[in-house]
Amino acid sequence: MSHPVAEERPAAHGDALNGLRAAIADAPSPEAAAQRVVELLHDRFAHYDWVGMYWVDGSDLVLGPWIGPEATEHTRIPIGTGVCGAAAASGRTEIIPDVDADPRYLACFATTRSEIVVPIFDVGEVIGEIDVDGSDLEAFDEMDARFLEEVAALVAPLRPHS
Ligand code: SME
Repeated sequence: MSHPVAEERPAAHGDALNGLRAAIADAPSPEAAAQRVVELLHDRFAHYDWVGMYWVDGSDLVLGPWIGPEATEHTRIPIGTGVCGAAAASGRTEIIPDVDADPRYLACFATTRSEIVVPIFDVGEVIGEIDVDGSDLEAFDEMDARFLEEVAALVAPLRPHS
C-alpha cells in the first residue's frame, strides 16, 4: 500500500477507539484503565496475540500491564536494546514483518513471528510504548501503526508516577 495515510480508518479501529475512551473514563484508576486498554486491544483484534505496555523509568523500559498467553521475561529493557528499546530511542513506530530477520529482536515467545512497537509521548518526549506480538508473519501494517499511535495518545496520561 503506497498511500496508507490517505486510506479511510477501518470501522473496527474507530469502534475500538470509542470503546477505549469509554473504558478509560470508567476505570477506577489509571492502572486499571491501562489494564483495560491492553485487554480491549487483545480481545478486539485476533492478530494481537500478546499486548503490553512499557513505561520509561530512567534509561530503561519497565513492563506495565500486559495480556497474552504467556508472561515475558523481558520486564525491564534498556532503551536502545531490542526492538522495544529502538522505538523508545528513536521515537518511531517499528513494524517488524519477520522477527527472525531483525537482528535487534529480543525473543519472548516461541510463537511470535511479527511485532509492532508504538511509542507513547508526553510533550514530545517518549514516556512509554505499546508492544504487540503476532503469531503470523507480516501481521501488522501501516493501518495498525496509525491506529496504535492514536491509542498511544489516549494512554499517555495513564503513566504511573514513580
Ligand atoms: N520483542 C521485544 C521484547 C519485548 S517482548 O516482545 C514482550 C524486543 O525485541 O524489544
